[in-house]
Amino acid sequence: MSTVTTASSQREHRVTVRSLAARKRRAEPFTMLTAYDFTFARIFDEAGVDVLLVGDSLGNVVQGCDTTLPVTLDEVVYHTRLVARGVRRALVVADMPFGSYQVGPEDAVRTAIRLVKEAGAHAVKLEGGRSVAESIRRIVGAQIPVMAHVGLTPQSVNQMGGYRVQGRGDEGRQQVIEDALAVQEAGAFAVVLEGIPETLGREVTQQLSIPTIGIGAGVHCDAQVLVMHDLLGLNDWTPSFVKQYANLGAETSKAARAYIEDVTNRKFPAQEHAYR
Ligand code: KIV
Repeated sequence: MSTVTTASSQREHRVTVRSLAARKRRAEPFTMLTAYDFTFARIFDEAGVDVLLVGDSLGNVVQGCDTTLPVTLDEVVYHTRLVARGVRRALVVADMPFGSYQVGPEDAVRTAIRLVKEAGAHAVKLEGGRSVAESIRRIVGAQIPVMAHVGLTPQSVNQMGGYRVQGRGDEGRQQVIEDALAVQEAGAFAVVLEGIPETLGREVTQQLSIPTIGIGAGVHCDAQVLVMHDLLGLNDWTPSFVKQYANLGAETSKAARAYIEDVTNRKFPAQEHAYR
């Protein structure tokens, strides 16, 4: 088989913005999980997760901050590199952190280029609706696919007065719908809907031709996303919209305790663990 054939058959199996659009047309839900390092990226990729998001939630679950606001662009570049190295099939999306695009579209394009060129992202994500439409247009104009994020946008925590469900009431619903339509019109290939009522998640999903990816937005979205620490039970608190699929926090603690006991009692290393 020639190199060209091998490369093109590998490309056929990769998830792309086009294949995700086709999934919406075929009404086949797809999956997105956050990942922040090589090991978990490899495991999720091999398991068949379609999109890996290097979320700025790394501020919460990796760095231990109360908000995502302190996360820097250099930190997202670093974590995206680690994730990109573990992936063969999934689409890698890098979050644009607070402060890396709010100054204006030029800043936004520069940030997006860094995430693709230095970190290996296939696409970028940024928060906001109508207010970031021009930035989305410019990034897409630079040939970089953009995932948008509307509804509860954690980078606006101070403006929202906390992490509150968005889109309640007629005016709230209208705001979310207008934001979603604006990012689609600006050229986004998909949009995350976070923290909105299920009925609104359904309405936005029906109105848009691009895929919606829900987190706390109900079952009618075209795709779902979870923070990996929530999925795996690695946090000490689980939000009500999360389904925990494993309890790795408890398992990890059990393993550490068993190790401590073995070392303390000279049961580890045993004969089979020693070099001869
Ligand atoms: O940063 C993140 O992990 C996110 C997801 C929750 C969508 O934006």
